Amino acid sequence: MRVERGGENTSERGEEARKPSEEEANGRTILTRKCKSYNDSVNAPVKLALGTIQINEKRHLGFLLLNLLRVYCSIVLVRDEKISERCYNSFEVERMGFEIVCYKPEYEQALISLWKECGLIVPQNDPAEDIRKKFEFQPDLFLGALLDAYLVGSVMVGYEGHRGWLNYLAVLPKYQKQGYGRKLVEKAIEELKKLGCLKVNLQVRKTNTSVISFYEHLGFKDDNVVGLGMRLK
Ligand SMILES: CC(C)(COP(=O)(O)OP(=O)(O)OC[C@H]1O[C@@H](n2cnc3c(N)ncnc32)[C@H](O)[C@@H]1OP(=O)(O)O)[C@@H](O)C(=O)NCCC(=O)NCCS
Repeated sequence: MRVERGGENTSERGEEARKPSEEEANGRTILTRKCKSYNDSVNAPVKLALGTIQINEKRHLGFLLLNLLRVYCSIVLVRDEKISERCYNSFEVERMGFEIVCYKPEYEQALISLWKECGLIVPQNDPAEDIRKKFEFQPDLFLGALLDAYLVGSVMVGYEGHRGWLNYLAVLPKYQKQGYGRKLVEKAIEELKKLGCLKVNLQVRKTNTSVISFYEHLGFKDDNVVGLGMRLK
């Protein structure tokens, strides 16, 4: 008589085929019958599961190993993905380097600190109000310099249809003398030219001789005019 058990033909190997008892065939039956006390019956579902594993031991072990392998592969894949993500991001940062962008409200605190560090905040000006107003008026001409996504410079550009103006040009002291100030001025001029502006003006305190030299170095000239102003508020 041929008894197929797990794909093996036992009669061919000379073993006597034996029909599995009801108890062997179904672990659940054995365990259910063996519940003698309340505790036993409470634990029965756990034992039932164990009983099933015993009966299908080999198959379950195979599944278990297969699943462990799957979990391991997923972990390795996720880890590798994270590594490549990190590489990509660091590549992006390297590639990004220095960039000039339009001001965004989230830069406000960094911008105020930058102006403070550069000595541009004077008692008669409220920097937060200056920022808010510029953001509402010609925000495209309100520029920030980012170095690896870190705000290191600024320039507030204006155009009223006749002359272009530069205000709040600043580079964090630690990053000065590295060409960022020049880049900001060049970008400001580029934007003004796009608008058809023919001349750019700026005001520097006479005492700020170092910055006057900087502008002269970039091609600005003393217009030999007196700068006048009147507070409206
Ligand atoms: C003015 C300021 C923005 C310049 O920024 P910076 O990043 O140091 O300037 P850069 O490194 O781009 O310099 C550009 C060029 O100017 C030259 N330069 C810089 N400072 C100079 C100075 N004080 N005198 C003469 N030349 C100067 C550089 O050598 C460089 O020359 P190159 O391009 O031919 O090599 C910066 O000094 C600053 O923030 N100052 C304080 C804020 C301030 O007073 N702003 C002006 C308000 S009106």
